[in-house]
Amino acid sequence: MSKIILTGDRPTGKLHVGHYVGSLRRRVELQESGEYDKIFIMIADAQALTDNADNPEKVRQNIVEVALDYMACGLEPAKSTLFIQSQIPQLCELSFYYMNLVTVSRLQRNPTVKAEIQMRNFEASIPVGFFTYPISQAADITAFKATTVPVGEDQMPMIEQTREIVHKFNSVYGETLVEPQVLLPNNQACMRLPGIDGKAKMSKSLGNCIYLSEEPEDIKKKVMSMFTDPNHLRVEDPGSLEGNTVFIYLDAFCKEEHFERYLPDYANLEELKAHYQRGGLGDVKVKKFLNHVLQEELEPIRNRRKELQKDIPYIFEVLKRGSEEAEKIAAQTLKEVRDSMKINYFADTALIKEQAEKFK
Ligand code: TRP
Repeated sequence: MSKIILTGDRPTGKLHVGHYVGSLRRRVELQESGEYDKIFIMIADAQALTDNADNPEKVRQNIVEVALDYMACGLEPAKSTLFIQSQIPQLCELSFYYMNLVTVSRLQRNPTVKAEIQMRNFEASIPVGFFTYPISQAADITAFKATTVPVGEDQMPMIEQTREIVHKFNSVYGETLVEPQVLLPNNQACMRLPGIDGKAKMSKSLGNCIYLSEEPEDIKKKVMSMFTDPNHLRVEDPGSLEGNTVFIYLDAFCKEEHFERYLPDYANLEELKAHYQRGGLGDVKVKKFLNHVLQEELEPIRNRRKELQKDIPYIFEVLKRGSEEAEKIAAQTLKEVRDSMKINYFADTALIKEQAEKFK
């Protein structure tokens, strides 16, 4: 069986370093690994509309931002198919059929949707489209027969629900769809990178993100203002790593070679952590190191993004070609789905004959 990746993001803002360590960096590695037969990267504008119904312009404006971030990070149109969700009408039809295979109570149990409903104060009036987006996400994944879905931990319930839908579809209509596997980030810090204020999630509204397109001075300012251990007041005090944003970022970003370049007194992160915990290591020194690490990682991305920004029509051309290719694949899957469901009535000579017999 071929190995196929599908993943994507809602275009509701520029992408930040949380997206980067949580998924983008991995996608590029997967792209370069040569292990996959096909890679689909989707800009989930239709899904973004499910909780931005009043603000379609925000979604529209951010399509290019996300595409630029993708390509700046190293996703290449020649190796990965980049496309826009709303340009693939087959996804709607698949969702419509899958809706019959999922109960309302099952949707209500989806922990990510539950948390999002709370976060958006939707309790009193949940948009139907938002409530059912896990079903449309199952359509996104299955339309491309994805075997592998690299996402953050918060997306696990969606993949679980997709697997259930696939299982149900195949048992009702016969083996048609492929059950996908989730591929999670490989370290805990990458799973959920906190905001610079130490809050659980980076979000634009909290103003606690470092964006991929951020300028060097702003990166530095943000790093120097990061939340650390509030009880680590004097340099000689022992410091705690628990919830210490600077160290969480180092876990996500730093490699041993960074020590050689920027902090040769230590061989690796373990030594730095041990010193911090013992006492005698100040926050400023650690922050300066993190700043070097982040600057090194983000500089090439920012520069590539600036290059790409010079030719925006090309970005649209890439997305158009990707969407055309994606639509062909989705159309093929939809055909198979309709065949399995036996709703291709007009091509079904056996049905026509049988019905004619019945009324003889
Ligand atoms: N739910 C994802 C997010 O919020 C976006 C998304 C839509 C997606 N469809 C998908 C991710 C299919 C992986 C597979 O970022």
